[in-house]
Amino acid sequence: MKAVILYDSKTSGGSTEALIDAIGLQLAESGAYVEKVKCKALADYSFIRDFDLVILGAPVYYFLVASQLLGALNYGNLKINLKRKKIAMFLTCGSPEAMAAVLYLPQLKIHLISNKILVEKIFPSNALQDNSVIDTFVHDVLYAYNKTSSQRSLSAKWTDESREWLQTIPSFLQGKFKTMAEEYAEKMGYKEITLEMLQLARDEMGGT
Ligand SMILES: Cc1cc2nc3c(=O)[nH]c(=O)nc-3n(C[C@H](O)[C@H](O)[C@H](O)COP(=O)(O)O)c2cc1C
Repeated sequence: MKAVILYDSKTSGGSTEALIDAIGLQLAESGAYVEKVKCKALADYSFIRDFDLVILGAPVYYFLVASQLLGALNYGNLKINLKRKKIAMFLTCGSPEAMAAVLYLPQLKIHLISNKILVEKIFPSNALQDNSVIDTFVHDVLYAYNKTSSQRSLSAKWTDESREWLQTIPSFLQGKFKTMAEEYAEKMGYKEITLEMLQLARDEMGGT
């Protein structure tokens, strides 16, 4: 899975960037390819088409989500390029969570009504004092991502033989292999996941 973290903050090395680095590290450790990109309102966001998951992250200043991210959604081509993308989002702010959910998150969500939003989260500025906060966020993102991926891929059926083969690999790798095979089947238009298709996918991905 390829994920891009699109963020904005006025503070270089501030709380938002620290959260992004921690989230990116955890995602990478789980096997994802991760890039982080700082928002500029009028940048070209067509590169987003190469990513499976987009994480938006920004702080709140003076009751508004940081301006370059809002600007990219309002005036740039970010919104068009986010179409049909799976999205997770978080805000960092000083307000209580309930207040932020009502006042600040909608500033982003109003632009994303056609998107699948996997997870949304409000972090306090000092969120990193508790490591489990990032663990939970990343776990929730991956769980929701994998759930929607397997729902989407129901059209490609596993044959009995390929299901048996899946059982022969270590159990902690099975979920990852299953998702990769189903994504490959969807991309290549296979209706069935056969042993032959799995072999082709392995050859193309450089597996042994
Ligand atoms: C100038 C300024 C204005 C802020 N305005 C708000 C605000 O209106 N609402 C809020 O909940 N938090 C507000 N905060 C708190 C920030 O959203 C919070 O500290 C955030 O973690 C800062 O992120 P950063 O370290 O990436 O800049 C403000 C902070 C600053 C410095």
